Amino acid sequence: MQNIIRQLEEKRAHARVGGGEKRIASQHAKGKLSARERIEALVDEGSFEEYDMFVEHDCSDFGMQDQKIPGDGVVTGHGLVKGRPVFIFSQDFTVFGGSLSAAHARKICKIMDQAMKVGAPVIGLNDSGGARIQEGVASLAGYADVFQRNVMASGVIPQISTIMGPCAGGAVYSPSMTDFIFMVQDSSYMFVTGPEVVKTVTNEVVTAEELGGAITHTTKSGVADKAFENDMEAMRQLRRFLGFLPSSNREQPPVQATDDPWDRAEPSLDNLVPPNPNKPYDMKELIQKVVDEGEFFETQPNYAGNIITGFGRFEGHPVGIVANQPMVLAGCLDIASAIKAGRFVRFCDAFNIPIVTFVDVPGFLPGTAQEYGGIIKHGAKLLYAYAEATVPKVTVITRKAYGGAYDVMASKHLRGDVNYAWPTAEIAVMGPKGAVEIIFRADKDDPDKLAEKEQEYREKFANPFVAGSLGFLDDVIMPHNTRKRISGSLRLLRNKKLENPWKKHGNIPL
Ligand code: COA
Repeated sequence: MQNIIRQLEEKRAHARVGGGEKRIASQHAKGKLSARERIEALVDEGSFEEYDMFVEHDCSDFGMQDQKIPGDGVVTGHGLVKGRPVFIFSQDFTVFGGSLSAAHARKICKIMDQAMKVGAPVIGLNDSGGARIQEGVASLAGYADVFQRNVMASGVIPQISTIMGPCAGGAVYSPSMTDFIFMVQDSSYMFVTGPEVVKTVTNEVVTAEELGGAITHTTKSGVADKAFENDMEAMRQLRRFLGFLPSSNREQPPVQATDDPWDRAEPSLDNLVPPNPNKPYDMKELIQKVVDEGEFFETQPNYAGNIITGFGRFEGHPVGIVANQPMVLAGCLDIASAIKAGRFVRFCDAFNIPIVTFVDVPGFLPGTAQEYGGIIKHGAKLLYAYAEATVPKVTVITRKAYGGAYDVMASKHLRGDVNYAWPTAEIAVMGPKGAVEIIFRADKDDPDKLAEKEQEYREKFANPFVAGSLGFLDDVIMPHNTRKRISGSLRLLRNKKLENPWKKHGNIPL
């Protein structure tokens, strides 16, 4: 017995060093943690239970029969984050560059299957040279087995990817189908084809960082949701982020105790909207002032800044927040913002997270770039997402709600449950100037008449009372009471039941 125990300990110790101390040191020299250190930083102390530590690849080509490392380049298992179970796979770059073999893929599939059965999130910590080149198509089959599970798990359990090293070629498509992608600055990159192939095919000279680094994907492509400074910070933020999400679509999001009074008044909000309707203000100030303890986890903060998305809490209950940002493109909706917010709304709806929407939108961004780019189809994504969502929806119009964009932004007409406006709200087909120029085109050479009509239009529509009189708003509220009114509405809606008609699936414009 003693002998067997010693053997087990030796085997475990051998597996724990992965590709060896030298390779772990080289990982550290790059400012990266090892696969196991990352897991330790993510889970509650001592809670990680590892699976398949002794799994080895079954490849016998290109001398691989003589190179077997237990675990085969990925550490898998489950642990607790703030007491709640999560499944984790953490690719080990020290073992064959973290490349994905058939055995490596089977390990990932095993935890994904179990996560689906028990209803717990899957966290992927990606650091891999891609498909195990020596295994050829067996490795590609492994990827596809993971992809299929990503799709089956979508909307059932949260799936989160953190890219902490290379992620190239076919490897990108598993993270891309997960709900959120985080990256680590300066040490991670994602691309379908690398700089050398790009140079050969298109003659463009670009570095890996420029092509697919964290800055590229959080500012240009919108592929990633957020970038963190280093591995430790990424794990710390991931723990915080998980605190907003339910473990599966069968659960409600976790409630966190708070000392912040539900009815806290915020007098400074009464002066947030400037008297001049063309002057911007920072919508993030409103968000931070109304959520519990000012804690807002923003997603895609540096991409499509004309719309803000992220998570906060009211009375300890998580919500998804969507808000137009007048500081960027005057808060217009465009292709990027509609896609960003549409996907966010669908995530919240899939996982029982109520949606709070703050509206100040002058319309859709005009121009050939937008029309040729398909704003009709892409703008419809956000409209579709709001319309199909059955979670509680609370909307506050702070200023402009013009045209089709008014309809889109969680209006009453798209089954908004509680729709408020501040007294500064202007709800109309378009701004007074544009409206008068069209209605009174014949008087275009009479500036006095146009000014008079513009004033008339402003008085009639640049207020919340026409919409209020039609029942499209439930109330006009004082800005300082916004937190109290939202908290109360969300409490009322906690047991909301609404179902969409049975269908195989909808056909959202893609
Ligand atoms: N299959 C098998 N082994 C791989 C691998 C893969 N896809 N990617 C990396 N490795 C191995 C390397 O052979 C090396 O092994 P060694 O230490 O025994 O020599 C080890 O992993 C580390 O790789 P290395 O190239 O030294 O690391 P790096 O940090 O300099 O470069 C990459 C990282 C990912 C850029 C580079 O390894 C690479 O280009 N890999 C191939 C990517 C690819 O084409 N994948 C297949 C298509 S999806």
